[in-house]
Amino acid sequence: MLLKMDFLFAFTVCAIVMTVVQGQTTEDDWRMYKKTFKKNYFIAADNGRLDRIHKRLFVTRNEQIKLHNSNPLVNYRRELTGFTDLLKEEFQKFLGVNKNAIPSHTKEAVSLRPDGSDITDPDVPSRLDYRYHTCLPGIKNQGQCAASWAFSAITSVEFNRCRNNKNISVTLSEQQLIDCDRGGLNKGCHGGFSMTAIESTMLTGIATGLQYPYKKTGGPCKYVANMKAASVKLCNYIEGGSIVDMKYALTKLGPLSATMTVTDSFADYGSGVYDSNDCDGQDPNHAVVLVGWGNQNGIDYWIGRNSWGTGWGKEGYFLIQRGVNKCGIESYPVFVKLS
Ligand SMILES: *[C@@H]1O[C@H](CO)[C@@H](O)[C@H](O)[C@H]1NC(C)=O
Repeated sequence: MLLKMDFLFAFTVCAIVMTVVQGQTTEDDWRMYKKTFKKNYFIAADNGRLDRIHKRLFVTRNEQIKLHNSNPLVNYRRELTGFTDLLKEEFQKFLGVNKNAIPSHTKEAVSLRPDGSDITDPDVPSRLDYRYHTCLPGIKNQGQCAASWAFSAITSVEFNRCRNNKNISVTLSEQQLIDCDRGGLNKGCHGGFSMTAIESTMLTGIATGLQYPYKKTGGPCKYVANMKAASVKLCNYIEGGSIVDMKYALTKLGPLSATMTVTDSFADYGSGVYDSNDCDGQDPNHAVVLVGWGNQNGIDYWIGRNSWGTGWGKEGYFLIQRGVNKCGIESYPVFVKLS
């Protein structure tokens, strides 16, 4: 009897200690997370309410991330990022495609394939990677302005301009698109669409990033004709889902602007080939750039370029499953041609 009591006592103490330790670990994790990502939710008057809200989101996501990474069968790793503890409406500010901005496009979409022909080697290599190409500028960071549509559009133009100009790289102005393309579906820091943004510059031209720098917020249009540093002659969709046409365009014309559906698991992407199913079949909410393709452990992937700084993903880039329209990334690919 005594032994049983002792055991019960020991068990209870053990359970209490474990709960306390676990609570402490969570507290430590949260403190460490805030330190790493420079978060401060302290507001003198709110009794720690804001901190508790974000802590709750962090704890849930942190559990999901650990669970995901403990599965040896997954093809990509998740990690803590600056987005892990954000409310949905806070995270929206780092995206930038709203579904209303997507024009109906099926009629206009073009096939780049020379009439009736199959594209074969050596037209399209088995792998392509523009990440280290002289003409691809450093990864940018849109910050809290939902204008990934502008970043995605500008990158394709920058690459093309550079390749047509003896590899002399010049950054171009996202801010111009944000400020000046306000007539139609593009709403500055509140979402837009790359294709219509590029079209809006075809008559006027595009300024350099130096002349018209990024402000993370919309303002009055300051573009004047003598700022013109690049102009697009042609841009269009590639027939949705045509992988061979997308590869052909990437090879011949450079990086493609693309849209995708971003979910929590993508926000926490760390490495590997992203192949989550939770993004499939939904409206696109983010614009990125496709800069190459390859195959890893039997899985075909695209190399994607994001506008969330070099601290996110693989130095700002990600790999995403290719050939299955993962997260809708093969639905609206756009190419540009400068001459
Ligand atoms: C431009 O850069 C690419 C890769 O960085 C290189 O392969 C190509 O030869 C260069 N072209 C010129 C004209 O210098």
